Amino acid sequence: MNAQQVTEEIAEIAARAEKHADASETLDALRAVQGEVFGRKSRLSEIKKSLGSAPGDVKPVLGKAIGAANKRLNSIFAHRKAELEEQAETEMLEAERVDFSLPGRRHQRGRRHPVTRVIDEFCEIFFGMGYTIAEGPEVETDFYNFGALNMPKNHPARSDYDTLYVDHGGAAVDHGVARESEVLLRTHTSPVQIRVMESLPPPLYILAPGRCFRQDTVDATHFPTFHQIEGLAVDRGLTFGDLAGTLEQFTRQFLGASAKIRLRPDFFPFTEPSAELATWWEGRWLELGGCGMVDPAVFEAVGLDPEEWQGFAFGIGVERFAMTRYGIDDIRHFYRNDLRFLEQFL
Ligand code: DAH
Repeated sequence: MNAQQVTEEIAEIAARAEKHADASETLDALRAVQGEVFGRKSRLSEIKKSLGSAPGDVKPVLGKAIGAANKRLNSIFAHRKAELEEQAETEMLEAERVDFSLPGRRHQRGRRHPVTRVIDEFCEIFFGMGYTIAEGPEVETDFYNFGALNMPKNHPARSDYDTLYVDHGGAAVDHGVARESEVLLRTHTSPVQIRVMESLPPPLYILAPGRCFRQDTVDATHFPTFHQIEGLAVDRGLTFGDLAGTLEQFTRQFLGASAKIRLRPDFFPFTEPSAELATWWEGRWLELGGCGMVDPAVFEAVGLDPEEWQGFAFGIGVERFAMTRYGIDDIRHFYRNDLRFLEQFL
């Protein structure tokens, strides 16, 4: 073996490999070149194998040449590999580039219905006074809507409520009068008072907002469905002063510190005494609804001792209030789902 010749050959192999490595355009191609140079059947491996049997004086020369070639080739491949990887990454980033300057697809922002908004604001203020929310069904029975509220059958106050009865296929005739079916659409939120007192022990401070129904002919101020917010407080030693103070406090928070309330005698079968609630707002009295001290007969209907417990209640008409507050002249606007109307409320 001629050391000189082999050393030159190794240098040639290295030079050729470097050229091929530089010419490789992909990592796969580079790996192929690498395999050819270092592979078991490559010329370089052959030379390495022959090293064992080389004569003593040739061995160190060849060993040195092989070591140098190895080092050089490794650095060449590593360098080209890094270059190709960087190139691949740049290409990928370019291909997957997102143009953030494009305008996005806008979603139209929803708004709360004015009725919902009044209810939400109302509840928010009462939450601050420790009240919680209660709900009852919109389809009620005669007992909850009337009977337990001190309006037994044939009570004249029932005629104030233009009740919609539900024909559910059952016995709709009661006392020979079909109109007095036991199942009806609640005409007010007051039945929730009864349901709450039946299921929870006092003290109670609850609000019950919800939809009510009456057989009204539609006009600018009447609609067969509308909303009320019912309030009920049951505790020991509650007085009419607590009711008035609560309503005044609420009104001030809702309408501003200068807001005033007016309570005038009224009649409701389920409160005694009863009052009509109005607030002074933008130069006039605005009727909000009714209120009063829970009638002992109502406590008895739910099994509470009227000597031990006192309570006050109120019921407020949401649409009527929203109409005055927002200057809406026709109740029908609330239920037309016309965006031009609804978009005016934030
Ligand atoms: N439920 C009555 C109505 O719809 C309003 C009302 C009056 C509710 C007095 C009350 C109350 O809680 O105490 O006409």
